[in-house]
Amino acid sequence: MAKSSFPEKFLWGGAIAANQIEGAWNEDGKGMSIADLFSYDPESDTSQLHVSNMTKAQVLEALHDDQKYYPKRHGIDFYHSYPQDLKYLKEMGFKTFRLSINWARIFPKGDELQPNEAGLAFYDRLLDEVIANGMEPIVTMLHYEIPVNITLNYGGFHNRHVIDLFVQYGKTLLERFGEKVKYWIVINQINLFQIEPFNSTGICIDQVENMQEALYQAIHNQMVASAQIVKAARKLNKQLKIGTMLADLTAYPENSAPENNVLALQHNRMSYYMTDVQFRGKYPGYILRYFAEKQYTITQTEADEELLAEYTMDFLAISYYFSQMVSTEKNGADRFAASPNPYLKANPWGWAIDPKGLYHCISHYWDRYEKPIMIAENGLGMYDKLENETVKDDYRIDYLRKHIQQLEECVKDGVDVFAYCAWGPIDLVSASSQEMEKRYGFVYVDYDNFGKGTGKRYKKESFDWYKKVIATNGAKI
Ligand code: BG6
Repeated sequence: MAKSSFPEKFLWGGAIAANQIEGAWNEDGKGMSIADLFSYDPESDTSQLHVSNMTKAQVLEALHDDQKYYPKRHGIDFYHSYPQDLKYLKEMGFKTFRLSINWARIFPKGDELQPNEAGLAFYDRLLDEVIANGMEPIVTMLHYEIPVNITLNYGGFHNRHVIDLFVQYGKTLLERFGEKVKYWIVINQINLFQIEPFNSTGICIDQVENMQEALYQAIHNQMVASAQIVKAARKLNKQLKIGTMLADLTAYPENSAPENNVLALQHNRMSYYMTDVQFRGKYPGYILRYFAEKQYTITQTEADEELLAEYTMDFLAISYYFSQMVSTEKNGADRFAASPNPYLKANPWGWAIDPKGLYHCISHYWDRYEKPIMIAENGLGMYDKLENETVKDDYRIDYLRKHIQQLEECVKDGVDVFAYCAWGPIDLVSASSQEMEKRYGFVYVDYDNFGKGTGKRYKKESFDWYKKVIATNGAKI
């Protein structure tokens, strides 16, 4: 029998986000979160990543609209179906399940003095069920679920007062669930604020004069809030592990031309600066210079500096789907643009498939920080065809197999990687395109993009494959 290279207690599993799966958008006192504002638009071109912004008027319009379909208000009804859905994951042998808690279920407007007990009670039941099914829960405190009131009345994370409101929420979670949950990710993909400015920070494009400056301030505020949550966790229980998370956006240079290599370095640093702060305890010079040259004023108090220096994060969570490429010829000096890589094929949404990129990025983060790493998300979004009550998703097996092989290479190099979570182990609503039909799961859920269908669950062929991967601790892939 093939021998496994993975550590004995390696956490194999999957990840979901409350807003993409739970539905029950107005039950048990839940408030509106910003994820509930996105309608499905069959006309929209989802073949590329678009910057998602909203104006205040658009927020108000979505709040009062009863014409369009808002997929994240319905998800796959996991709020009610979780006991049955978790059974599928148990059958695959999941050792871990990453979920997010929806801020708007706990503090419906984000600024109440007391939490909503019905919301807390739901997550008590859910976490108990996760544990009873043999899975270690990993909880994300914020996965694009900012209460809409925080946007409308505070202007999102740009406002320093939101630090206190978020920390109050975070402490409530640690106190209530700290006995059940050891691993916490404070903010999903803290670096994605250039692609998802509204989702990430809750700032409407017309609420501030200089959106870019406001975004960097918002991220500063999120990092300060994260440090305060680390401080609270250490006081509460030294066993708790608090992590930060990057969506890996690493770009390769187009070729060996020095200017392309420097552009790739600059591009990548626009993500790394946050983990540099959160692991090394201070802002690196290259980003301070960037702020100065752009004339951005980021308010940072002495107390912030002390917090960031003292309360650094315990682990790094990474989501990895694709890699990127940059070239001065195609992208000019733009530190955020990227171009298609001619060496790689992409899925129908233009996400380039690059298993070696996973090896590349994990190795880089390990070399840079030497902090434990969790793969918090990885997977292939595809249109699946249900035939004879199953889906022949060999393309998904191929994608996951090649990525797990690269993960194994990292383990062999001695990287401390302790978990692998496949994204969306049961089909759920897409974060970027609002489609149900961009599917990632091992379990097919019979809903279309308008939420029509029976909602029945079917095992795809990848189901048995992943079960075997887990049963052999990654030896049989
Ligand atoms: C990650 C997000 O960036 O990508 C998830 O954390 C998301 O919420 C996943 O679902 C896949 O993206 P999409 O847009 O295909 O759902």
